Amino acid sequence: ISRRALIGTAGATGLALGAAGGAVGYAAAPAEATPLTSVGSDRAMFHGKHQPGITDGLQARGHLVAFDLAAGAGRKEAAALLRRWSATAERLMAGEAAPHGDTDVARDAGPSSLTVTFGFGHSFFGRTGLEKQRPTALDPLPAFSSDRLDRSRSDGDLWVQIGANDALVAFHALRAIQKDAGSAARVRWQMNGFNRSPGATAHPMTARNLMGQLDGTRNPKPADADFDRRIFVPASGEPAWMANGSYAVVRRIRMLLDDWEKLSLPAQEAVIGRRKADGAPLSGGGETTPMDLEKADAKGEYVVPLNAHARITRPDQNGGAAMLRRPFSYHDGIDADGTPDAGLLFICWQADPLRGFVPVQRKLDRGDALSKYIRHETSGLFAVPGGAAKGEYVGQRLLE
Ligand code: HEM
Repeated sequence: ISRRALIGTAGATGLALGAAGGAVGYAAAPAEATPLTSVGSDRAMFHGKHQPGITDGLQARGHLVAFDLAAGAGRKEAAALLRRWSATAERLMAGEAAPHGDTDVARDAGPSSLTVTFGFGHSFFGRTGLEKQRPTALDPLPAFSSDRLDRSRSDGDLWVQIGANDALVAFHALRAIQKDAGSAARVRWQMNGFNRSPGATAHPMTARNLMGQLDGTRNPKPADADFDRRIFVPASGEPAWMANGSYAVVRRIRMLLDDWEKLSLPAQEAVIGRRKADGAPLSGGGETTPMDLEKADAKGEYVVPLNAHARITRPDQNGGAAMLRRPFSYHDGIDADGTPDAGLLFICWQADPLRGFVPVQRKLDRGDALSKYIRHETSGLFAVPGGAAKGEYVGQRLLE
């Protein structure tokens, strides 16, 4: 919740900053220290009930990186690695230098809302002899008929999500995390993403994705009565080391933008069931007006089509299944055939994937209106333990 408030202040300051930046360029203002803008000084907390990077506002820059433990590395090495990673994350999130051999890349910047989040994949538990501690919720996701998965960029023993509102701060954290891995683990895959920069819009608003839609409107809100139950493993949950944790499903979803952009605006809006300009349901009102699923036009057709993405993903159409979507967009250049390698690093959080991602993706896999315009290219499922208490490292309750 606090992050939303911070995004609000960043919005105002960001606009002011633009003007100040211009003045500095022309008037050669003295180089004396001025206070950091709120974008730089915004800080997320490392210690807490939950890990950071789950309910925090979307950041402008993100890196997702999966590691596999090195041959011969087991539980002892993994525990030492999580201890190193936690020390680094705590320091960097406070805007301080990394504990060992800092690279100076973020030297002039504040924490910039940096978050670093750690998770464990299914394969981690076999490598460390901890099979008995493996949650059943980490059982591999079912295969979906529309999957086109690159296994070399899927899964992994360990997963790290880095987000920050400054690209150098995010890179700095990524590099520190990678160096900390030392000989214990090697990078399996890495993906880079982005969202809108704080201050780019006149007022805080739901982010747009690369199809141009407002994406995130109907996300569960931390103030909702059932938010914790849907998103976090209860304090008394199983296994005990996952108390207050969450499960992250990570899918690199390519958008087939050449096809999508050929559609007329009404056709694009029918695919989602919401207006592109303001995210309002096609049944009328504004972005947050409840969707009227029954409303019909003069011909008797539903105004929100039966296969519209925003109709069929609703919890009330999926036995209550709900998740918190917290994605980054990505763009990795242009393929040989001229199509953009761009889309969504879809990350969703839930207390149990079988009551979140799985039933909804099963439904989408039968073909919603959006399916023709996207392709799931990679997949990961990670157990993200609760936040570290002071003096503790992330995952300590599993590894000690
Ligand atoms: C809603 C886009 C993939 C689950 C929406 C909305 C948009 C959207 C524009 C409506 C606004 C909102 O409530 O956020 C996309 C795009 C995708 C994608 C562009 C792929 C590139 C997925 C996937 C899932 C999913 C893979 C889960 C399996 C949902 C859910 C909602 C939603 C749960 C909210 C439904 C509600 O509570 O009313 N999506 N989506 N989406 N989407 Fe997606």
